[in-house]
This record gives sequence, C-alpha cells and structure tokens, in this order.
Amino acid sequence: MTAPSRDDLKSIAAGLKKTALLAGLNDRQLKRLAQLALVRNIPKDSSVVKRGDKGVGFYVVLEGQVQVRKGGKNIARLGPGEFFGELALFDDRPRSADVVTLEPTKVVVLSRWEFWGFASNQPEILRVILQTMSRRLQETDRVPSL
Ligand code: CMP
Repeated sequence: MTAPSRDDLKSIAAGLKKTALLAGLNDRQLKRLAQLALVRNIPKDSSVVKRGDKGVGFYVVLEGQVQVRKGGKNIARLGPGEFFGELALFDDRPRSADVVTLEPTKVVVLSRWEFWGFASNQPEILRVILQTMSRRLQETDRVPSL
C-alpha cells in the first residue's frame, strides 16, 4: 500500500470535516487524523461489519450509503458524514449489528487504538459520539423484537 499523497490527505481531511462529529477540529487536527486513517473503497452489497464479530474499527462514511441491519430488520441507513462501529469500541463487546453497503461506498477507518488515542484528547468528539449512541439506542428500542 502506498502512503497517501498530499492531495489525498487534503481530500480525506475535507471529508472528515464534513462530519458533525469532527467539524470542531482545526486543520492541524484534521490532517493528523487523515494521516492515521485508512481509506477503503467498498463495492455495493458488501458486508462491512458483521454482528457478533470482534470490533476493531471505527468508520466514517465519506461517500455512498450503508444499511444497518439487526435480526433481519433494517434499522438505519447512514450516508456521508455519518459514522458507525463506535459501540464495540466503547465497550469491548461484539458488533451489535450488521452493516452492508447499499452502493459503492468510501469510508475512513480508524483502528480502536488510533480512535482512542485521538478521541481521549478531544472531549467534544466523545460528547458527540455519546449523544449519537444514546439516540441510536433509543431508535433500536423502537424496532420490535430485536
Ligand atoms: P457496532 O456495534 O460496533 O457495530 C455495528 C454498528 O451499527 C454499531 O456499532 C453502530 O455504529 C451501528 N448501529 C447500531 N444500532 C444502530 C442504530 N439504531 N442506528 C444507527 N446505527 C446503529
């Protein structure tokens, strides 16, 4: 794998900045994050996260759409600027749902270690993640028989 070029880093940083989660970061922090992250282009109809697997990554969608599925039910659709994979990182637990691509999708992946190294210095990021997690849990509660 080749190291990302300056232009790649710029476009990753620009994609990351569009996420509500990371919008508060300054340019230096975004560039640092872009250096840590891995960009993956995933074809349509591919599994990204499997329910029950050990969670090692945190994902931010740059382009495309993914579907979150649990117990055979579609529980959420996530697009550019949204993130997934946070639950298994907070608690050392298996993935709570399946996530599959609905179209060709570009994501940025941070490993558990990179994520924690970064987020522990950014309380605002942790606050946004916790807010989103609590909203997602409420939504999941409203889906019958999960
Ligand atoms: P994780 O459990 O690590 O892996 C599956 C992911 O699906 C989970 O983290 C969340 O990011 C996401 N997820 C689970 N439930 C919901 C929901 N109700 N709405 C949106 N995303 C969800």
